[in-house]
Amino acid sequence: MNRIGIIGAMDEEIDVFKEEMEIKEVKSIANIDFYIGNIYGKSVVLVRCGIGKVNAAICTQILISELNVDLVINTGVAGAINDELDVMDIVVSTDVLQHDFDVTGFGYQLGEIPRMDTFIFPADAHLVEKTVSASERVLKNNKVIKGRVVSGDIFVSDMKLKENLLKNFSADCTEMEGAAIGHTCYVNNIPFVVIRAMSDKADGSAGTNYNEFVQEAIANSKEIVKIMLKQI
Ligand code: ADE
Repeated sequence: MNRIGIIGAMDEEIDVFKEEMEIKEVKSIANIDFYIGNIYGKSVVLVRCGIGKVNAAICTQILISELNVDLVINTGVAGAINDELDVMDIVVSTDVLQHDFDVTGFGYQLGEIPRMDTFIFPADAHLVEKTVSASERVLKNNKVIKGRVVSGDIFVSDMKLKENLLKNFSADCTEMEGAAIGHTCYVNNIPFVVIRAMSDKADGSAGTNYNEFVQEAIANSKEIVKIMLKQI
C-alpha cells in the first residue's frame, strides 16, 4: 500500500483529521481540495468530497486516477436502519449499494444497475476486520457491527422509506456517499471500506438527532480510523 485516500463528505468529518495531519501540499481539482501528506505514519490524501453520490464519485475517481491512491477509507455519519442500532453505534461496511437506483420499469430489481455485473459492491474483507477490531477498542458503551450501507441522494427522515430500505435491501444504515465511493473503487479494482457512526435513526426525528449527535459521532469515527491506520 502506497497512499491511502480518506474521504469525508463534510468539513466537520475531515477537520478532525486535518488537525493531526502533516499537510505537504494542497491540490485543487474539479473544485475539490485534496490535502496530501502524512497522518499516523501513513501517506494519505484527505478530502472533503461534498454531499451526495455524484460528488463522491468525482472525488474518488480523482483520488485514484490523478493522486495515485491505492486504498480508500470513507468515514462519517449515517442514519441507522437496523433496529438493533442506536445513535453512536458503528457500522463497518461489508458491502454498499445505491438504494435510489430504480430501473424496475424494465423489470430490473430495485437498486440493480443495468449492464453491470453487480450492484452490490463488496468492501475489502481485510480492511473490514481491521476496522472492526479498531472500533471495538474505541467504543466503550456502543455497538459495532459489520453490515450493509445503502446510499442515495436523500436524507432519510421518514419511517416509510426507512422500512423500505430494510425490507428491500436488508440495509443496516443509510447515508449519501458510501456506495458511490464503493462503486468507483470497484470499477478501478481498488480496496475500500466505509465506516459510519450513527448520528440518527433515519426516522421522523432524524434532523434533530443528527444535530445533537453529529460531533460526537465524528469524533468516534476519527479515533477508529486512527487505530486502524496504525494497524494496516
Ligand atoms: N447521514 C446521516 N444521517 C442520515 C440520514 N438519515 N439519511 C441520509 N444520510 C444521513
